[in-house]
Amino acid sequence: MPARGKLIVLEGLDKAGKSSQCKQLAAKLAAQGLKVNAISFPDRTTPIGRMIDAYLKGDDQQDDHAIHLLFSANRWEVAAKIRADIDAGINVVIDRYYYSGCVYSAAKNSDSLGLAWARKPDEGLPRPDAVIFLGISQEEAAKRGGWGGEKYETKAIQDRVRELFVQLQSVEPEKQDFVRIDAGQDLEEVAEDVWEAVQKVFKRVDLHGEALRVV
Ligand code: TMP
Ligand code: MG
Repeated sequence: MPARGKLIVLEGLDKAGKSSQCKQLAAKLAAQGLKVNAISFPDRTTPIGRMIDAYLKGDDQQDDHAIHLLFSANRWEVAAKIRADIDAGINVVIDRYYYSGCVYSAAKNSDSLGLAWARKPDEGLPRPDAVIFLGISQEEAAKRGGWGGEKYETKAIQDRVRELFVQLQSVEPEKQDFVRIDAGQDLEEVAEDVWEAVQKVFKRVDLHGEALRVV
């Protein structure tokens, strides 16, 4: 029986370089003759994704809880496809997942929307075999130049997101998922660290015949 696909997520703040690292990783896996499907969240192309896009661009207002549930629904739309890919031996590389979902919503500091509440709607989704967290310091992020004009691209939110990512990486069960990489290095060095981490994940999953878990 062929090995199942692996589910690898890249996470981090805006400007950490996730999208380009995802692309490189998918290309490297493909170059090894492995099947790979690269996706990103939010997927702005679906009807729910278009509502999220309008919210992020400031063209539409949403209650904090409502937009949180839309981000989650946007993952559930693709969950069965992710599972089918993994079963078929296709590796899935994802740019942002429910970890972003939890921290960005909780960064709004609403009393009724903490990390624990934020995690609930994503329970049952396929859980990644590893989450590669591209960590970037405040100073390095500032050097990389301005954010765009989207909803969460302000210093106050990004600082709070940074704190909450640290918090999420220190509590069970998320603690075990994260591999932290210094994204302040040269792009090539970051790519090498990502590749090294991914190879370890492949070895671990195949050696122990680990089944895909759920959130
Ligand atoms: P992007 O910059 O990767 O396209 O993501 C757009 C913004 O959406 C980014 O600031 C992070 C935020 N986000 C959430 O608030 N919740 C989520 O579930 C996801 C996936 C992203
Ligand atoms: Mg962004």
